[in-house]
Amino acid sequence: MIDIHAHVLPFLDDGAADLHESLEMARMAVLEGIQAVIATPHHANGQFDNAASDVRKAVASLQDELEAHRIPLRLYPGQEIRGYSELLQDWERGALLTLADTSYLLLEFPSGQVPTKALEWIHELSISGITAIIAHPERNKELAGSPDTLAGLIEAGALAQVTSHSLTGAFGRSIQKNALHMCRSRLIHFVASDAHNVKQRPFALQEAFSLLKKEAGKEVADICRENAELLLSKESIPYRQPQLAKKRWSFFVK
Ligand SMILES: [Fe+2]
Repeated sequence: MIDIHAHVLPFLDDGAADLHESLEMARMAVLEGIQAVIATPHHANGQFDNAASDVRKAVASLQDELEAHRIPLRLYPGQEIRGYSELLQDWERGALLTLADTSYLLLEFPSGQVPTKALEWIHELSISGITAIIAHPERNKELAGSPDTLAGLIEAGALAQVTSHSLTGAFGRSIQKNALHMCRSRLIHFVASDAHNVKQRPFALQEAFSLLKKEAGKEVADICRENAELLLSKESIPYRQPQLAKKRWSFFVK
């Protein structure tokens, strides 16, 4: 498996607290069957700024440590970029990282709403050949309440990534329900861990994929798994028309 969103680098944000924790996380990833992780420290979220050059240095340094400790995990640079007013200017001047130097960029919205400029960012990035991947839309209040809005962003050229812990129910039933509804509606293209540490927020990708397969079907789970592989191979990800599924109100997973 490939994980396209994780906070494994030490000292940069609210992810791994130190090198020891980064190494523990890497060992856990390998045990789960993860071969490669794109390290995506927070950027421009009001709390953390992680310049592209700093992320590259941190990835190279942790990769050296993984090799020294014989942990067979490949790391790639990325950023989880909060939408902000200078996003397009910073992209144009080369200040932002895509995921693993591909043409895909991880874009995070604040949890309460969708920024008014979101469509403009997605559109302008796509004109320059970049696809925005919306991080965990199931945790965004506006998108959770309006899957149509997410469908509009996808039709404008974005893709979307659900977080493993949302699917497993670790963030509560409401978020789990949103996550599954979005997956069933073909609004989700990736499952990623957004792992922050070894205890409260480890990877849980294996568990998330099992649950997704059970609740949304093998095809949906397989597509999400394969899309991460396509991304890392710099291959294009096939467009799938969103199909808004009916919400399941009467029963729900354990
Ligand atoms: Fe994240």
